[in-house]
Amino acid sequence: MPDPVAVNSMFARIARRYDAANRLLSGGTDVWWRRRLVSEVKSGQPRDILDLATGSGDVAFALADALPAGTSITGMDFCQPMLDEAVAKQTARGTGERITFRQGDGMNLPLPDAAFDAVTVSFGLRNMADRHRALSEMHRVLRPGGRVHVLEFSQPQLWFRPLYYFYLKHILPHIAGWVTGDKQAYDYLCGSIEHYPDHVAMRDEVLRAGFNDVRVIRFTFGIVALHIGQKQA
Ligand SMILES: C[S@@+](CC[C@H](N)C(=O)[O-])C[C@H]1O[C@@H](n2cnc3c(N)ncnc32)[C@H](O)[C@@H]1O
Repeated sequence: MPDPVAVNSMFARIARRYDAANRLLSGGTDVWWRRRLVSEVKSGQPRDILDLATGSGDVAFALADALPAGTSITGMDFCQPMLDEAVAKQTARGTGERITFRQGDGMNLPLPDAAFDAVTVSFGLRNMADRHRALSEMHRVLRPGGRVHVLEFSQPQLWFRPLYYFYLKHILPHIAGWVTGDKQAYDYLCGSIEHYPDHVAMRDEVLRAGFNDVRVIRFTFGIVALHIGQKQA
């Protein structure tokens, strides 16, 4: 189970190089995964969106670019240096009026009940110590009929696993260590992917948190999965 203090300090250490490492390690595919997430969110026509574990804000910015002007987006993360990166990008982009970045813990959200129409969490749930509690908090802050969107690494199709895990264990941490200066952080991140539930078990977790009609979309041989659940209307 991830230790929140260790996770927070690890992201604080890699915050400055996080975006560059993502692009390089995924060959740019991470941008496409987030784009697919955003198009699913857009189809629900939400007014108020929470992007939890927003990190350096890539999902929040993609939402701001894709959704109509009246949409409000809250980007929340418990790691201040990651939020500092998001705010620096926001200043450079001039999208200040659309997104509010705030510090907060996903397992104890400092937000009122039923305040959002959509919640997104992209590559964040895996790092939370208590996934059931985090998903229940997402359920609490959604309005009836609102949707949760969980984009996360998953277990790929069987034939692809040997190649994928060789890359994750023996290649990726070295490249990431070179880009971020912190190989240890990526040893943890890669390990956490290997022990994460597959898309079937993850769907059960989303259902157990109280969501209905949980849909699953798998990307790139199943290495990433998007789970979309709805709070009872
Ligand atoms: C891999 S990054 C993902 C960032 C961004 N969502 C993206 O798609 O690039 C994971 C983020 O989750 C945040 N995080 C981990 N545990 C958290 C928690 N309990 N509450 C809030 N944020 C958390 C980390 O600080 C980090 O910024």
